[in-house]
Amino acid sequence: MFQDRVLSGMRPTGAMHLGHYHGALKNWVKLQNEFPCLFFAADWHALTTHYEDPSVIEHTVWDKFVDWLACGIDPTKATLFIQSRVPQHAELTLLLSFFTPLAWLERVPTYKDLVEKHADHGRDVLTYGFLGYPLMQAADIMIYRANKVPVGEDQVSHVELTRELARRFNHLFGREKGFEEKAEAAVKKMGPKKAKVYRTLRTRFQEQGDHEALTQAQALVNDVQNLSLGDKERLYGYIEGGGRMILVEPDAVLTETPKILGLDGQKMSKSADNAIMLRETPESVTRKIRTMQTDPARVRRTDPGNPEKCPVWNLHLVYSDTNTRDWVWQGCTTAGIGCLECKQPVIDAINAELKPIRERAAQYEEDPMLVRNIIQDGCDKASDLAGDTMRDVREAMGLNYS
Ligand code: TRP
Ligand code: SF4
Repeated sequence: MFQDRVLSGMRPTGAMHLGHYHGALKNWVKLQNEFPCLFFAADWHALTTHYEDPSVIEHTVWDKFVDWLACGIDPTKATLFIQSRVPQHAELTLLLSFFTPLAWLERVPTYKDLVEKHADHGRDVLTYGFLGYPLMQAADIMIYRANKVPVGEDQVSHVELTRELARRFNHLFGREKGFEEKAEAAVKKMGPKKAKVYRTLRTRFQEQGDHEALTQAQALVNDVQNLSLGDKERLYGYIEGGGRMILVEPDAVLTETPKILGLDGQKMSKSADNAIMLRETPESVTRKIRTMQTDPARVRRTDPGNPEKCPVWNLHLVYSDTNTRDWVWQGCTTAGIGCLECKQPVIDAINAELKPIRERAAQYEEDPMLVRNIIQDGCDKASDLAGDTMRDVREAMGLNYS
């Protein structure tokens, strides 16, 4: 049950552009081939800031899924769903809220930034829901016992909070009468050979803080076939200390790809009008790049330039090989090439990248029911998984009323 699992979400607040593709989706496409993955539209998270105009959320959700599928997210590999269609997320958020110290939420950087930004307006722009944003995100992650969470740098603090909450939950509710005896009995059920390895690894972790031993012991438990869920939770918990491990502490997975900047060299975003959208036509891509700002020093064709001062260079860093980059550097600094010439390889590369995306998108645009069915399926699968965790959580918190 504590197998690897990837979970990530995006707020449906706008159409997707190349920045999203390079910053997140490309990585998701890779991960779906390596691990079981769940990807969802975080519509409740969108409501924490867009509650005054909720109507855009619905169509943005569907558009987002088309973009994801177009980018190569494969519904036979990854589970795609909508957060609000799995209402257990809300239940877990509520249950976590009872033991989440207010200070933990108030010190999250994304929250602190917003408080500072709105200092002049007083605190009335800040809602209860917004303070709870990372708490709800923690519930999103833990309800699937996901251990890998691909996110941007700005979201790492939310994953850290999730880890703290998982630890706190297990500490508070993983205790049970006779835990030691039950754990010892579970160790015996592993069989003599595995039990011996388990004990050695456990001692190594507890006495020397050896994290390699911890990982090995977890993998060992993971591989044992004939154990009940409860016993597995006990064995995981017993490696580290005193109780069952009911919720899992996740790790953030950061993307390594170079960051793609907008047409003006600033962060790419639709509202800044410097973005290339994922389903943009080749003509429009060509026009946008051809009219892009370059190094202002290159007024005339004969003026040499400096690629470091030119946003086109950033695109070459993402799209061009070293040969082309050398050609750019040489040609720009000696005025050997013109800017339009320099831009052409980027135009070609972006259009080549977007071609299969546009083609796949067309198939889903033509048949909206195809997307609806994929998502229905994904919501059902996600509900099943969430239901399993919630059964354990309710039981641990004394809420199962059997
Ligand atoms: N907060 C994330 C963002 O703005 C979206 C999100 C919501 C998320 N829940 C999540 C991401 C759980 C990863 C895991 O991008
Ligand atoms: Fe930018 Fe290329 Fe023109 Fe140099 S030659 S200023 S890198 S577009």
